[in-house]
Amino acid sequence: MRKGWLICVEGLDKSGKTTQSRLLVEALVNMGFEAVYTSEPSSGEIGRFIKRYVLHRRRRLPATVEALLFAADRVDHIEREVKPMLDEGKIVVLDRYLYSSLAYQGAAGLDLKWIMEINKMAPKPDLAIYLDVPVEVIMMRIQKRQRRSVMESLETQLKVREIYLKLVKEGYLLLIDGNRSIEEVSQDIRRIAVEALRLKRE
Ligand code: TMP
Repeated sequence: MRKGWLICVEGLDKSGKTTQSRLLVEALVNMGFEAVYTSEPSSGEIGRFIKRYVLHRRRRLPATVEALLFAADRVDHIEREVKPMLDEGKIVVLDRYLYSSLAYQGAAGLDLKWIMEINKMAPKPDLAIYLDVPVEVIMMRIQKRQRRSVMESLETQLKVREIYLKLVKEGYLLLIDGNRSIEEVSQDIRRIAVEALRLKRE
């Protein structure tokens, strides 16, 4: 059994998950926990390759290639960063995890079972949060952005949200209404995380 705790925060592009993941880490640290923030695609070599050659190019790569690259980056990230921190008993807050592969590469037409299969080595998180924000709000935020990624079309975001909601229904993810003020959302996430941590300790 691992000593630490794995929490992941999922959502559409510009849904506020990076802000919320960082706020959660800050709150947990203030409460005396050893908590760390990390994200996927990772800052390792494969993650950097993905940011450059998958996300920021004109056309998308074949979905299978994308899925395999994200899965490879995940193994690298887990082995290099996540597992050592969990072994030290830390709370690791992951800004995107395997559910991003299910949602985004699933939206690109791949079979969810196959995506799960190639991500089998990814440890199950103790808490997996999905920040739900309507696609119209997301598209307004995306349009203000200078450097857009290949995932940011309306069609992709609609399909991605559909899969996230399916994962919520199936019990993989816990939905939090992300279409509120930063403070309201962060309070909710903090409360849920602290409650889950307390239950685990009992
Ligand atoms: P972000 O830096 O805003 O989180 O963006 C990362 C992008 O990478 C986002 O559009 C979703 C995409 N992505 C996938 O398609 N599959 C994955 O497994 C991961 C981790 C990210």
